[in-house]
Amino acid sequence: MTVQIDHALEEIRRFRPSPEFAAQAVAEERLYEEAAADRLGFWADQARSLLTWEKPFTQTLDWTNPPFAKWFADGELNVAVNCLDRHVAAGLGERVAIHWEGEPGDSRSITYAELTDEVKRAANTLEGLGVKQGDRVAIYLPMIPEAVVSMLAVARIGAIHSVVFGGFSADSLASRIDDAEASVVITADGGYRKGRVFPLKPVVDEALEKAEGGTVRNVLVVKRGENEVAWNADRDLWWHESVATASAEHDAQAFDAENPLFILYTSGTTGKPKGILHTSGGYLTQAAFTHKNVFDLHAERDVYWCTADVGWITGHSYVVYGPLANGATQVLYEGTPDTPHPGRWWEIVEKYGVTILYTAPTAIRSFMKLGRQIPHAFNLRTLRLLGSVGEPINPEAWIWYRHVIGGGSIPVVDTWWQTETGAIMISALPGVTDLKPGSAQVAVPGISVDILDDDGNHVEGEGGGLLTITEPWPSMLRGIWGDPERFKETYWEKFGDKYFAGDGARRDEDGDIWLLGRVDDVMNVSGHRLSTAEIESSLVAHPWTAEAAVVGAADETTGQAVVAFVILKASQADQVTDVSAAADELRKHVATQIGAIARPRQVFIVNELPKTRSGKIMRRLLRDLAEGRQVGDTTTLADTSVMTAITAQVQ
Ligand code: WTA
Repeated sequence: MTVQIDHALEEIRRFRPSPEFAAQAVAEERLYEEAAADRLGFWADQARSLLTWEKPFTQTLDWTNPPFAKWFADGELNVAVNCLDRHVAAGLGERVAIHWEGEPGDSRSITYAELTDEVKRAANTLEGLGVKQGDRVAIYLPMIPEAVVSMLAVARIGAIHSVVFGGFSADSLASRIDDAEASVVITADGGYRKGRVFPLKPVVDEALEKAEGGTVRNVLVVKRGENEVAWNADRDLWWHESVATASAEHDAQAFDAENPLFILYTSGTTGKPKGILHTSGGYLTQAAFTHKNVFDLHAERDVYWCTADVGWITGHSYVVYGPLANGATQVLYEGTPDTPHPGRWWEIVEKYGVTILYTAPTAIRSFMKLGRQIPHAFNLRTLRLLGSVGEPINPEAWIWYRHVIGGGSIPVVDTWWQTETGAIMISALPGVTDLKPGSAQVAVPGISVDILDDDGNHVEGEGGGLLTITEPWPSMLRGIWGDPERFKETYWEKFGDKYFAGDGARRDEDGDIWLLGRVDDVMNVSGHRLSTAEIESSLVAHPWTAEAAVVGAADETTGQAVVAFVILKASQADQVTDVSAAADELRKHVATQIGAIARPRQVFIVNELPKTRSGKIMRRLLRDLAEGRQVGDTTTLADTSVMTAITAQVQ
């Protein structure tokens, strides 16, 4: 098998779209030409043709106060109406919006008409709780239909949602609730994961004790896990008692295109997560445009499945807003890929006849490890397009995905984007672009990117540099919640009027872009962004820790893995008799403080950390060690013998 793959790689560097696929493709070459001829006109056309505006806009882009962009600013629309009511009004009410599959095997298919009713009820409930335009609602839910309903209900009344991934700890939830000053939290008693109920409401209770702002008035609770929960009758309401009995009549008001839609926290280079702010009209335009063209959506016949959790940006743009704005039928799955058996995903593909699958390289690599017999026990012949997101997909995984999952001839699109960009920025267009495994390829029509050196000069050819976005785009972040200065510093200070993405990239001789990973202290573990600084400050918060350094080390399955080097306090040293127990305790501590996704793969207890004369930790050397390489140049260290000592301790 491996031989075959290597052979395929050498022989075929590019895959032409099949004539049959190209003939029916949604995307056409002319999109590039139109966008090149008149970029703003192109986006205005997309906004008009893909969305329904209550009040049409006359202005496309206002960039008079960079980096604060306004798109379609004098237009008005309701985002939820665009995702729901207008499809029902167009006679599509009976189309299935969501085929939901619970982890234990229960399922529900929900039509656009039903979803619209449910969102109206939830909107009435939230209004009944006093939630108004601009108020923040935190959502901490498993992957159940109510997660989608909650997001759309918040959007419908012009409020702002902040979805917090259900795997985050009470501390992480508390700091997000405080930062956004949320007035309502929507959660569930619990959800299913790996065959068990994991509690959510108890985490919310704990978070609300920790939250210092005291802003939360109500907690709305979906019954899902049937686990015991404590109840505060002054604050807590059951979804099935309040939403289910609320009126399904709700007149949606139109809001400005720049009305904030959501805040989503993501890791940056400092310890404190940033609340990335997105607004309505531009965001929805680019989410819908890319969803339709990159995934070749034929809404009347496709069954689309994006495996991302709604707690991440991929879930926002490609589970909720893009697909629903386009009237797609999609699968939503609650659980883990291997529960109750390792073929669960492929069983779901077969059951619903999934035609478009969008997932992450880390998932593909773990399926590769298990072997093709697992997917091949199911009928995957309905699949006609595959997508990848979250980290670079290595050519071997790309080829395996196309051959083993896709049957050998269907397009695989590798999509590069970020929480900040809101929607896909770099990707092939299926049916148009010749595909090249391992490269995200080209900017989507209407998007302008460049690769620059540290001084802002354009880098020609194969030389690597920093990926930048050179023109404002409709779904760009509008800022960091409550911190306009940090917004400017993080993304705009380096290159002035160009957006600095934080990724390294190079362009090959065909002009295709290859992503080279983060150039800052952000790690990418299983497609999730984690900050070295955030994990370091969590480690240092433990009473045993004197100092900590964290690096992202290359990992075959997860892309990168968190590896920590910790110096214990001398005063505590006698308490710690067993080094490996201490390492376990610290790993657990990070999981409790931040969430299980941040748990270090390894914690090494060491006596010293490699530092420069000015006291800066040289993480590069620790990464060499964590990746089992010869340690690189140590001449700039204050004490060059330190690495020898650390190496001896680690081994
Ligand atoms: C990385 C996820 C290579 C990149 C949508 C980016 C990728 C970060 C790709 C954003 C890709 C995402 N190829 N790298 N196709 N897609 N990345 O905010 O480093 O969770 O900066 O958004 O993931 O992660 P985020």
